[in-house]
Amino acid sequence: MGSWSRTVLILFLTISAAVLSTPLINKLQPDKEWPQLVKQPSQDESAETISEKSKGGLAVELVNGQHLAETVKKTEPEDSENEDDVSADIISKCLIEAKDDFQKVDYTGAQLWKVSTEKNGWRVVLNRLRRRNLISTWGTNGTSIDILVQPNAIQNVTNALNREKIHFEIIIEDLQARINQENPPLDENEIELQDRRGHRMNWKQYHRLEDIYGFLDYLAKTYPAIVSVKSIGNSHEGREIKLLRISNGNPKNKAVFIDGGIHAREWISPATVTYYINQFAENFDVEDDDIKNIDWYFVPVLNPDGYEYTHLKDRLWRKNRKPGAGRCSGVDLNRNFGYRWGGKGTSNSPCDEIYRGPRAFSEPESKAIQDFFKSSASEFSAYLTYHSYGQYILYPWGYDNAVPPDHLDLNAVGKKMATAIKSTGDDNYSVGSSSNLLYPAAGGSDDWAKSIGIKYTYTIELNDRGFYGFVLPTQYIEPVAKESLAGLRVLAAAVHTA
Ligand SMILES: *[C@@H]1O[C@H](CO)[C@@H](O)[C@H](O)[C@H]1NC(C)=O
Ligand SMILES: *[C@@H]1O[C@H](CO)[C@@H](O)[C@H](O)[C@H]1NC(C)=O
Ligand SMILES: *[C@@H]1O[C@H](CO)[C@@H](O)[C@H](O)[C@H]1NC(C)=O
Ligand SMILES: [Zn+2]
Repeated sequence: MGSWSRTVLILFLTISAAVLSTPLINKLQPDKEWPQLVKQPSQDESAETISEKSKGGLAVELVNGQHLAETVKKTEPEDSENEDDVSADIISKCLIEAKDDFQKVDYTGAQLWKVSTEKNGWRVVLNRLRRRNLISTWGTNGTSIDILVQPNAIQNVTNALNREKIHFEIIIEDLQARINQENPPLDENEIELQDRRGHRMNWKQYHRLEDIYGFLDYLAKTYPAIVSVKSIGNSHEGREIKLLRISNGNPKNKAVFIDGGIHAREWISPATVTYYINQFAENFDVEDDDIKNIDWYFVPVLNPDGYEYTHLKDRLWRKNRKPGAGRCSGVDLNRNFGYRWGGKGTSNSPCDEIYRGPRAFSEPESKAIQDFFKSSASEFSAYLTYHSYGQYILYPWGYDNAVPPDHLDLNAVGKKMATAIKSTGDDNYSVGSSSNLLYPAAGGSDDWAKSIGIKYTYTIELNDRGFYGFVLPTQYIEPVAKESLAGLRVLAAAVHTA
């Protein structure tokens, strides 16, 4: 069901319920918090209990998360055939969703702060602010964490941090201004050039899904001997999940799988992965033998609904678009893969940005990857998943502070990749296991790929280190893609010697 028909259904439910029970509406103005769904934490709620739940601190489970999950589940239209199910919760949620549907999220006055994590107690403070929806967390390194501060919360967050003597600095004064400057429209000349090229893709701009998919199809049509495209599934909203394969057909080839765009707002990821595709497909004849003698599989946009949503509605959306209300829709696909699913650094609350979903591979997007690997006869030696930001090359495990038996191999190749990136583009990448270098997070595509026996499995966190964060201007696309391609070439060499 499309989002439009959902909205219509929801409006219908809302209106019929409103007619049946007018008094309810008075209590449930759209601007108010939802009575059950988003419960305001009371002051005496034990902050320790909350922080204990996740060592990493980014991943906090609501104390009553179980209850929340059930509330939301009940509100899905499929589950509410019975009139009695149209409760106060549903009505207020639907009002909010209907309101949400007509306007783009505006980040005017919202700020990005870098908060020091060197003083104990930061986690408790930030968790409390986050649960009140005053901040959300972005990237982190060992000694600081980036937070988005809502405009109406600047004073309160300042007070809270000052009270605990936690140091912070403002990195972005006005997020909306940055968003407006991030992806400027192309001039007339470029538009004309696109028409002559036969596709609209370039690496001077962040593109809509249609341009990206048009480019993949163009390559398959232009280079049928080496390039093929197929759909490996459909998203919640029915968009195709396209996979592009580049292969010279040599039966001895090992295979490498690359996914991009798991997280909707990390635009540099699909931009970079399509850059690799372009490089290999357009220059295949003159490419290195290491590149030619690999079967390459690319899914540049694994979360197509979320990606489009970041272009049309909310630039900073992270999850997929599993139906739900407001920020309680969507599942974090990189918590939904089926190895040690549900562990540390994940949430069972649908309203959370790291919501893992109701069960492993519950989402059509992650399921598509699982199904593809089940049906593929290729012998995969590497799986890379591209994200932003922070400049990391991370290997398993993510679920906990542990490493696989061949971690020394993974570390050695990772270090070589970082060196190649540095000598090409001068950016520093840090190398290590995800749980160790960042924080534990279970259910990632990297852990799952490793668990099915793929040797060289990495999460690459592309640029930057928290100056622009997710809102990386377009002039960075080519340098970031180019230097990271040097890292990919190192990986290709390792695949041949493994
Ligand atoms: C983390 O970022 C801060 C601010 O940019 C920097 O001062 C610090 O050195 C970084 N820490 C690590 C471990 O890279
Ligand atoms: C900020 O704090 C004041 C005083 O505690 C409170 O009344 C107000 O609602 C808070 N603002 C927000 C946006 O939470
Ligand atoms: C990059 O790493 C080198 C050595 O590892 C260090 O000297 C340099 O300061 C780093 N640059 C940045 C921008 O972090
Ligand atoms: Zn990500």
